[in-house]
Amino acid sequence: MFSRYKFDAVIHFAAESQVDRSIVGPKDFIETNVNGTFNLLDAALTFWKQNDCPQDFRFVHISTDEVYGSLGPDGYFTEKTAYDPSSPYSASKAASDHLVKAYFRTYGLPTIITNCSNNFGPYQFPEKLIPLMILNIVEEKPLPVYGDGQNVRDWLYVKDHCEAILTVLEKGTAGDTYNIGGNSEYRNIDIVHLLCDLLDRRLKRPAGASRELVTFVKDRPGHDRRYAIDATKIRHELGWKPRHNFKEAIQETFDWYLGHMEWVESVRSGEYLKWIERNYGNRQLDYLAADKCRQTRTYS
Ligand code: DAU
Repeated sequence: MFSRYKFDAVIHFAAESQVDRSIVGPKDFIETNVNGTFNLLDAALTFWKQNDCPQDFRFVHISTDEVYGSLGPDGYFTEKTAYDPSSPYSASKAASDHLVKAYFRTYGLPTIITNCSNNFGPYQFPEKLIPLMILNIVEEKPLPVYGDGQNVRDWLYVKDHCEAILTVLEKGTAGDTYNIGGNSEYRNIDIVHLLCDLLDRRLKRPAGASRELVTFVKDRPGHDRRYAIDATKIRHELGWKPRHNFKEAIQETFDWYLGHMEWVESVRSGEYLKWIERNYGNRQLDYLAADKCRQTRTYS
């Protein structure tokens, strides 16, 4: 397949990426994230060799900070932090990272790995925290907060992430890893409250109205407490840092969703949910669809 084309880089974004779904159906995560990465690496290696092993070729593998496991209240993930994944999703990404490193060390394929923090922005599937909350607020549905809501994530605007990947592609060193973070740590409950307050204003609702929708639900099994990225390496070596202000990016994001409700509907009503039903029958996959938000969840 690769041999039909001429190109000098592969950027490997493809992955099953939702932790809750990996808990109820891990097999697809192994298939896509581990076997899929292996297939791409092998095809890239064949292509690279057929083209006389150019040293400026790049295979950039987009990965996650979840491979590092969970942080306590202090400290940050650096590129040297030991891997300690908690979920089938993060374990599958860790496995794929190891394969990428092996292809560099064993065959010399010029690979680079990036490990990013939590993304948000336009076109994010409404199974992830920020779009799910935006849509449930708009539709005045319960806002399911897992556990005590004190888990911390380091939020990265998707446009900053894309700029970082381009920087790594153009300037990164083969064989290296770069952590990419937004330097925007928030507790989940604070993110949800912020969205409630900003959207109340935007939708001209009484102050505090949407906060009434917050519903604490059973915690995610193996839920990592805190993620936070130390992005010193990419800043010092490649000159990248996030450019977008977090609150402005959040507002840009909910404005995008408010203006793209047809896209949301097509995602909600589409093949995707039918596929889930076919594969997982009647398991409660309430986090999948914003319109199916319930107060409890069952993992079998
Ligand atoms: O850190 C990078 C990772 O960020 C990526 O590798 C993953 O692909 C991506 O899904 C994301 O993982 P999280 O599990 O952190 O993202 P999620 O949006 O599912 O959840 C963010 C936090 O919000 C997490 O602590 C769980 C919590 N949460 C999530 C949902 C969907 C809730 O409290 N309620 C919810 O309904």
